[in-house]
Amino acid sequence: MDLSLDETQQMILETARRFAEQELAPIAAKTDKTGEFPRAQVKQLAELGFLGIAVDERWGGAGLDHVSYAIAMEEISAGCASTGVIMSVNNSLVCDPIGKFGNDAQKAKYLKPLAQGKLLGCFALSEPGSGSDAAGMRTTAIRDGDHYVVNGTKNWITTGKEADICILIAHSNPVERHKGISAFIVEAKSPGYGIGKVEDKLGIKGSSTTSLVFDNVRVPVENRLGEEGDGFKVAMSTLDGGRIGIAGQALGIARAAYQEALQYSRERVAFGKPIGDFGAIQEMLANMATEIDAARLLIWRAAVAKDRKEKYGKLSAMAKLYAAEMAHRVTHDALQIHGGYGYVKDYAAERHCRDARITEIYEGTSEIQRLVIAREVLTEIAAQA
Ligand code: CAA
Repeated sequence: MDLSLDETQQMILETARRFAEQELAPIAAKTDKTGEFPRAQVKQLAELGFLGIAVDERWGGAGLDHVSYAIAMEEISAGCASTGVIMSVNNSLVCDPIGKFGNDAQKAKYLKPLAQGKLLGCFALSEPGSGSDAAGMRTTAIRDGDHYVVNGTKNWITTGKEADICILIAHSNPVERHKGISAFIVEAKSPGYGIGKVEDKLGIKGSSTTSLVFDNVRVPVENRLGEEGDGFKVAMSTLDGGRIGIAGQALGIARAAYQEALQYSRERVAFGKPIGDFGAIQEMLANMATEIDAARLLIWRAAVAKDRKEKYGKLSAMAKLYAAEMAHRVTHDALQIHGGYGYVKDYAAERHCRDARITEIYEGTSEIQRLVIAREVLTEIAAQA
């Protein structure tokens, strides 16, 4: 087993780290304060090839592996968590399903400009009344000749305000549960496509989270992704990959918080010596360093399995579960190490806590990750019996 990075992965790490340190970290506090979408930085991400990292070069992507993607997600999110989720959604939830389920015409029309950053994408699965129970959705896409007519409301849509393209999951046959669900590529400029409530959130304030309202939106049949009735599987397998990206985001936030706490513990003096000399602080730092590495290893394992085209749903759920809960613990300890200064906005510690919190909720709550993992391990043991 060799855990060292190859030349390309090392180059991605260095490029992403430099970009995050020079372009993202200096604006992260302002982005958090204003809630402004980091448009210029997203354009720079596109120039770096980071909006379609694992997309085939034929379709405008960088053609790299998912370990490179995970590395880039960690670095970008360490600089700015809002920029991290914008990047993650475009890569994992939009480019990935078109690359996997789309036909050549869809790839030429949508995947190429999405991977090049000429278009931005969002993913619409959750609804006001269905989040964890994804198949409980109410939005319909009913066939009418060579179109589907879409009606309904989607919720919690990352990049909902800025996206040009939406991967929509809706019921094409409302009588069936998951077998009646289909996936579509919908253009935001379609008549009847509306941006609803823009959420005022605890963290990741630079990325928009909105509802989307579909009022008799006509979607051409050629924009269906996969076969009719395959939409639930499209959504679930897309989320398997998305969870690697969000785990990388959680890891990046945690690492930034840890590095700042480590630095602070060397500078801050109490009782005549740096607070890093005290056992209580050392215990926190040791736990943080260990948990950060453990999360990274889980993430890389899931990414390697995806690259090898092995089953990786359980592995990405484990990586996301652990990384998100680790980020919760690490960002809280980092705030604690800063004492009162951690609670005010002079330092980034409080922002990291707020940014980390969502990683335990979106792309499947921690409870859903445990459900996915438990189902898988029970199936594995049943198969051995
Ligand atoms: N890949 C492919 N197919 C899958 C699958 C997977 N990972 N998981 C399930 N399926 C298939 C099953 O095989 C089954 O198909 P068959 O009947 O043909 O066998 C079908 O899908 C139904 O599966 P389940 O019976 O397991 O479905 P369920 O209703 O019990 O739900 C669930 C399963 C895991 C709980 C699922 O609903 C789930 O993952 N919920 C969480 C949803 C989620 O993560 N939402 C996040 C929203 S996106 C977001 O946050 C966006 C953002 O902007 C950041």
